[in-house]
Amino acid sequence: MAMVASPQNHSGFQAGGTRRPELVVALDTPSLAKAEEWVKSLAGLVHWFKVGLELYTAAGPAALQLPPKYGGYVFWDAKLHDIPHTVAEAARQAVRAGVKMLTVHAAGGPAMVAAAVAACREEAAVQGRTPPLVVAVTVLTSLSTETLVQLGLGADPARIGAMWALLAVDAGADGVVAAVPDVAKIRAQVGRRALIVTPGIRPAGGPGTGAATDGPDDQVRVATPAAARAAGSDFVVVGRPITRAKDPVQAALSILTELGEPG
Ligand code: C5P
Repeated sequence: MAMVASPQNHSGFQAGGTRRPELVVALDTPSLAKAEEWVKSLAGLVHWFKVGLELYTAAGPAALQLPPKYGGYVFWDAKLHDIPHTVAEAARQAVRAGVKMLTVHAAGGPAMVAAAVAACREEAAVQGRTPPLVVAVTVLTSLSTETLVQLGLGADPARIGAMWALLAVDAGADGVVAAVPDVAKIRAQVGRRALIVTPGIRPAGGPGTGAATDGPDDQVRVATPAAARAAGSDFVVVGRPITRAKDPVQAALSILTELGEPG
């Protein structure tokens, strides 16, 4: 079983270390029953499960109760992005729901990030819980350089990612979500003050190795699990390569193998 740092204690997470990154499985499905099947079969191997927009929109807060039912931790990828007050109140609800990690968009600005962090701390104190890790999404891994240029953000996603990451971390975020190719630049900016969560992971193996998808799907800036670790990721988020595999348990095992020894 993979060793897991306790989310009860933030200092248990050592950002930018040489440890094997935590594997987070993205429960991307509209079906609560399907998500439960995945959590049930993977809970012995994987401790973190991500509830994203699809499942949450379909199943509501019940989705957040699934991982804890099987001893897992819930990462609510809510990608909150609104005025600070609205984001803070949503973050408060996340604490009440027992969420251990929550995403907000760094693009919402430092005041919004700070409001989310403050609300999490305040509500956690009321509930007698440890506040969830608030993680800021920088540049979506699905955005190509061309799209970034179209959006007026320039042609250097790593530079934007590093800039937004620093703003979010200075505003109190515990970590950031970023594409693997951007990790080095972000780490240089934030040092070990922040956890780095990387989606866009595709196993090195092709068909028959547990890799469900032969290509990157809609992800543009992808990396292998080993490359994510070498870059210094603290958490890797994997969806389709596990959930669309014929055998999700085997696929998760093979990704854990690719991630290497716990270290
Ligand atoms: O199926 P796949 O492995 O591509 O899933 C990646 C997951 O990570 C999805 O749930 C997606 O919403 C999420 N994510 C991402 N890029 C970000 C932030 C989150 O792909 N920048």
